[in-house]
Amino acid sequence: MAHLKPVLAGNWKMNQGPTAVNAYLDAFLAAHAARTDRTVIMFPPALTLATVRSRLKERPDIRVGVQNVHTEEKGAFTGENSALIAADAGAHFVLVGHSERRHVFGETDVESAKKCAKVVEHGMVPVLCVGETIEQREHGDTEQVVLHQLRTGLSMLDHEAVRGVIVAYEPVWAIGTGRTATPDDASTVHRVIRAALVELVGDGARDIPILYGGSVTATNVKALLAADEVDGVLVGGACLDPASWATICGA
Ligand code: PGA
Repeated sequence: MAHLKPVLAGNWKMNQGPTAVNAYLDAFLAAHAARTDRTVIMFPPALTLATVRSRLKERPDIRVGVQNVHTEEKGAFTGENSALIAADAGAHFVLVGHSERRHVFGETDVESAKKCAKVVEHGMVPVLCVGETIEQREHGDTEQVVLHQLRTGLSMLDHEAVRGVIVAYEPVWAIGTGRTATPDDASTVHRVIRAALVELVGDGARDIPILYGGSVTATNVKALLAADEVDGVLVGGACLDPASWATICGA
C-alpha cells in the first residue's frame, strides 16, 4: 500500500472524438463524484482535448493531458503535437515513451529524454512510461531494460524536475493483452524503480508516483493498488467504458 495519494490515469489512445466524448462524459461524471483523496487524469486524443476541457469546467478534480509531444516545440514538423501548444491548450500532463510510441513508432530513450525536458520546460508533468517486452523478461533482462529507459528518460532533467515527474511501469506483454502482471510482479519492478529514483535524487524520490499499467480492469485494480510501491494505475482499454472507468477511479 502506498503512502501517496493514488493516481488513476486513463489513456484513451486513438479513441473518442469530440462527438463521442459527450455521451462518455455524461455517463462517467454521473458515476464518479469529485474526491480529494486521489488524482484522476484523462489522456484523450489531442483533437478531443478542448471538448473534454470545456466539459470539465465544473470538475477541477479531473485533470487532463496529451498522449505524446514532439521533441521540438515549434516549426516545420507537419502532423506533430508540440509541448508549447499542449500547455496552451490546457494539458497538465504528457505521456512520454509509451510502449506504442517506442514499439510502433520506433521512439528511442533519447527522444523520451528530450520530450521530458520539453514537457517540464512548459510547466507540465511528464508521465514517463517504461517496460520490458516478453523476450526481455524471459531473458532475465527486465531490470536492466527498465532502468536504462528510466535513467536515460530522466537524464535531461535536474533533480528538482525529476522529483516532479510520474513514472509508469507498463510491461509490454501486459498492454492490451488481458495478461496483467500480478501485484507481486508489479511490486518487484516498482521497488527497483524506486531505488533507482532515490539513488538519483535522494529521499524526495519517495514522493514520485509510480503507476502500474497493462490490462488493468475494474476487477483487478484494487489488488494492484494495494501492492507495495504501486501508487496508481495507467489504464488503456478499461477506461473507454465509463462504468469501468468510474469503478477504477473509485477503487
Ligand atoms: P491497457 O493499456 O490497459 O489496454 O493494457 C494500458 C496502456 O497502454 O497504457
